[in-house]
Amino acid sequence: MRTKFKQWAVDYIKNEQNNQYSLGNFDLESFKNYINDKKTFIEIGPGKGQFILTLAAKFPDFNFIVCEINETISGICLNKIDESGLKNIRLVCGDFFKLGELMVQNHLQIPGIFLNFSDPWPKKRHEKRRLTSDGFMLVYSNILLLNSSIYFKSDNDDFSLYSLDQFKRFNFNVIKKDFDYNKLDNFDALTEFEEKFKESGIKIKRFVSRKTEKTITKVEELA
Ligand SMILES: C[S@@+](CC[C@H](N)C(=O)[O-])C[C@H]1O[C@@H](n2cnc3c(N)ncnc32)[C@H](O)[C@@H]1O
Repeated sequence: MRTKFKQWAVDYIKNEQNNQYSLGNFDLESFKNYINDKKTFIEIGPGKGQFILTLAAKFPDFNFIVCEINETISGICLNKIDESGLKNIRLVCGDFFKLGELMVQNHLQIPGIFLNFSDPWPKKRHEKRRLTSDGFMLVYSNILLLNSSIYFKSDNDDFSLYSLDQFKRFNFNVIKKDFDYNKLDNFDALTEFEEKFKESGIKIKRFVSRKTEKTITKVEELA
């Protein structure tokens, strides 16, 4: 399910400024105002945006940010956001780690993070790229408000078990744990990948992990 390079989409992400925050020329004040205006949730790796477009239409009183590292995919996603007319989605094109670090440095916190069908990066030497590896987990625990959650879905058994271990290792409270997730929660929507995996009969793994007072926020606290 690789997306081929599309020049129009890369041009779109470079030229269209609406509904977008650029990491290269980051407008911190505007970003702060956006996330402080309404409860604001972040999806990391939205793909072409089916999930966020559905959720944002269903919850107009919340704001949403999507952060997508691939330029072609970002361009396609931004185009869909613009065409939807929805006013409660902003896209950041780039590695979430950079956006997350900016948020940590500026003490910006949010009430939830969505990780939908993140790339599993099965090889040990690529572990740091997994969106539930230590570096990313420390960012999440710092940018989440107390009692806020990481909403995780995946098709991949090994990556799901690795991520579940990470949520526990960082002292998140895993409040929902489903190894055959079928009926969508109210605060959820189908993603492009999820639809394809379901059609192929692959079981969806889903965990909701809540930040508590005991959640690890500093690298020195890690065992
Ligand atoms: C397997 S796709 C899943 C897309 C979508 N969430 C879905 O379920 O249909 C994973 C997406 O995460 C993006 N991604 C991977 N690492 C990322 C990172 N560090 N920051 C932002 N996006 C990332 C990839 O470019 C890709 O679009």
